[in-house]
Amino acid sequence: MSSKTLPRRNLRPHGRNWPLIIAALIISGGSAKTTTISILATILALRGYKVRVFDFDQQRNLSHILCAKHLDDAQFPTIWDLIRDEASLEEASVPARFRVGDGWDDDAFAEIPNLMLVRGSRHVKNFDTEAAVAPERMLVGWFEKVCREYDGEDDVWLLDLPASLSKLTVSALLPLTEDDEVLPPVLVTNKEEEDLGYTFEELAEMVENMTTRSRRPAPTIKNIVMCSTPTSQKKGIEYAETVEAIERQYGENFSLHKIRYTDVIPRQHRLQATVPAFAPSSAPMEDYKKLATALGFNDLEPA
Ligand SMILES: Nc1ncnc2c1ncn2[C@@H]1O[C@H](COP(=O)(O)OP(=O)(O)OP(=O)(O)O)[C@@H](O)[C@H]1O
Ligand SMILES: [Mg+2]
Repeated sequence: MSSKTLPRRNLRPHGRNWPLIIAALIISGGSAKTTTISILATILALRGYKVRVFDFDQQRNLSHILCAKHLDDAQFPTIWDLIRDEASLEEASVPARFRVGDGWDDDAFAEIPNLMLVRGSRHVKNFDTEAAVAPERMLVGWFEKVCREYDGEDDVWLLDLPASLSKLTVSALLPLTEDDEVLPPVLVTNKEEEDLGYTFEELAEMVENMTTRSRRPAPTIKNIVMCSTPTSQKKGIEYAETVEAIERQYGENFSLHKIRYTDVIPRQHRLQATVPAFAPSSAPMEDYKKLATALGFNDLEPA
């Protein structure tokens, strides 16, 4: 085996104790956030990075795709227990898996090496209400605390966030610095480029509201992922126009990445498997691998 290569990206910015964070966020639903996190996380894990994904969404689609939604909450704590400080990060995490057989026993699933999942919970929908009525129990700074107290060896954390800047989302973004990134995926088939503009405005407003004397959050967008872009089989004038509009408006200041339209990705949910597990040579894999490389995650263990 060749000796391990070094990552192109600093995974412990300024020598901090918690890893680099990448958060998928855009203020519009059904925009390929979960898709991007599930596939990117698996590719990074397969490239030798120690990866942890966090499912912040009450729908728990990421937990479903990574085969952990059905687990018993009493036995396997979730992000809700982590938020309330009733479970540690390790206790709230399970190995990410993909389905290899029928039924719900452990042997119906195979583990994805290097990839841990903080399980989602339906209860997160109560975060904003509880944070308003009992701020001493529901702390907006809970994720900052998780970061500060981390002493493990993860290389990168990927966050699958809901499509709004709720208090819960804000709590996830608070520890981010310019070294981390907010990665907005835009599904060009049904979303307009305006959603991006709105996301920039909301983030700027959040920074203003959450800045204190000791902290200035810096959720930073450097890369934009255009998902479901036209291919020779699937054209669509409208989609091509959305891509052009994004290129015109954002091409100069941001790196833009294209993930082509494919009927492989929508199968993730039914198959309960991320694309790398069931279609490793497919077009979306090619595109997401390019994205992983562009983000600075070269293969640490090239064949
Ligand atoms: N490149 C692609 N080609 C075709 N379909 C895609 C592509 N990327 C994502 N999709 C489909 O778009 C839909 C929305 O994707 P996804 O669930 O990842 O969005 P989301 O932003 O997480 O949604 P939500 O806001 O509900 O959490 C899914 O059905 C997914 O399969
Ligand atoms: Mg989602």
